[in-house]
Amino acid sequence: MYLNKEEEKMYNGEYGETIQKSMEIIVALGDIYNASKLVDITSAQVSGVSYKTIGDAGLEYLESLSQDKVIQNKVPSTLNPAGIDLDNWKKYNFPEEFSKKQLEIIKSYENLGISSTCTCTPYLIGNIPKFKDHVAWSESSAVAYLNSVIGGRTNREGGPGALAAAITSKTALYGYHLDENRKATLIVEIEDKIAKLDYGTIGYIVGQIVKDGVPYFKLKNKSKNGELKSLGAALASSGAVALYHIEGETPEDKIAIDENITNNTTNNNIKNITNNIEKISISRKEINEQAKNLSTTDKVADLIVLGCPHSSLDEIQEIANFVNGKKLENQLWVCTSINVKSAADRMGYTKIIENSGGHIICDTCMVVAPIEAMGYEVIGVNSAKAANYVPNMNGLDVVYNNIENLIKFK
Ligand code: F3S
Repeated sequence: MYLNKEEEKMYNGEYGETIQKSMEIIVALGDIYNASKLVDITSAQVSGVSYKTIGDAGLEYLESLSQDKVIQNKVPSTLNPAGIDLDNWKKYNFPEEFSKKQLEIIKSYENLGISSTCTCTPYLIGNIPKFKDHVAWSESSAVAYLNSVIGGRTNREGGPGALAAAITSKTALYGYHLDENRKATLIVEIEDKIAKLDYGTIGYIVGQIVKDGVPYFKLKNKSKNGELKSLGAALASSGAVALYHIEGETPEDKIAIDENITNNTTNNNIKNITNNIEKISISRKEINEQAKNLSTTDKVADLIVLGCPHSSLDEIQEIANFVNGKKLENQLWVCTSINVKSAADRMGYTKIIENSGGHIICDTCMVVAPIEAMGYEVIGVNSAKAANYVPNMNGLDVVYNNIENLIKFK
C-alpha cells in the first residue's frame, strides 16, 4: 500500500510508539482489504468502551497506549456508550467495582485525546461529518446513519481500528469509502404505510435477509423523528448492514442503482432494474408478526429503557409530554448523551420525567450497562436492536412495543 512521506514517518515511529502502533493497525487492515492508500478522516467514533465488553484486558491495553504523551488528536473523536452514567452511577446504583473500572477506562481514553462524551448518536452532539467526508466510526447503528442519512463514508470499524484512526487521523481507503461499493444489492418494497416501531421491526427483518448487503427501500411515506435511527440500528444488528438507501429520502438514492441501467430508463423507475437486483416485498402482516416475536415474554416490564440508539431532544420531549402529570408504575430510563440531557434539563423535560418517577440516564444503555446485576428481570424496549441484544447480552427477558404500550401508569 502506498504511504506518503508523512505517513511513512508515522509508521516508522518518528512520532512515538502509540502513533506507530496505530499506523500498524491501519496498514494491516488496509492490506487485508487491498486498499491502495490511506485517506485523511474528519471524525472518529470509538467503540470498546464499556467495562462489560472490554474487561480488564481492554483496560490494560488502553492504559499502555495512553502512556505516550505525544498524542494530539486532530479530528473530533467521541466514544460509544460506557457501562454506567459517568456522573451519577452512585445515584442509580450501578455496581461500585464495575463503576471504578469503567472510570479508569474513560480516563485512558481522555489521555489519548478522545472526548469522553459517550454516545451512539454522535451526530446529535456536534460530531457531524459532511456529505462524502471520510470518517472512522465503529458503533454499528451510527455507521448505518452516517453512511445512509448523512452520506459520509465509513466502514464498520472495530474498536481498535477506530481508535487507531482517531490517533492518526487516517484510515485505509477500501469498502464503503469507495463509491462502487455503495450501490444497492436488494430492493425492499414495504406494502403499507409505516411509523415508529415498524422501522425497527422492518430493519430486523431485512437485516437477516440482506446480511452485509445494501438494501434500497421503497416506502409509502416519509420517516419522522428518530425513525431512521431505529431502522439503521436494527439493520446493523440482525444483519451487518452499514449502508441503506431510501427512495426519495436519503442523499444517494439516485446513485444507488447502476447508472448503465438507469440511463436507459425514462424516469429512473426502479421497476426497470428489478431484473438485475433481487426485489422483496414486506406486508403489514409480516411486520406485525415479527414485532410480536421480538418479545420473549408476556410479562409487564419492571424496567423500561428507551433511547436505543441514544435519544434526541425531540424524542425526550415526546416522552415528557406522554408522562407529564402522571405517576409511572414501572421504572423508566431514558438513555442519551450528557449533551442532549443538558438541553433537556434547560427545557424542563428532565424535571417532568423525574416527577413521573423516571430518569434520564447519560453515557450508557440497556445493553452495555450491567443491568442484569442490578435486580431487573424484564426489560421493556421500543428498539428492535435492543430487543435482539438484551436476551443474549444481559440474559434477561424483553418486551418489545411502542412507548404507549410499554409504560403503565398508577
Ligand atoms: Fe446505542 Fe446501546 Fe442501542 S450503544 S444503539 S443504545 S445497544
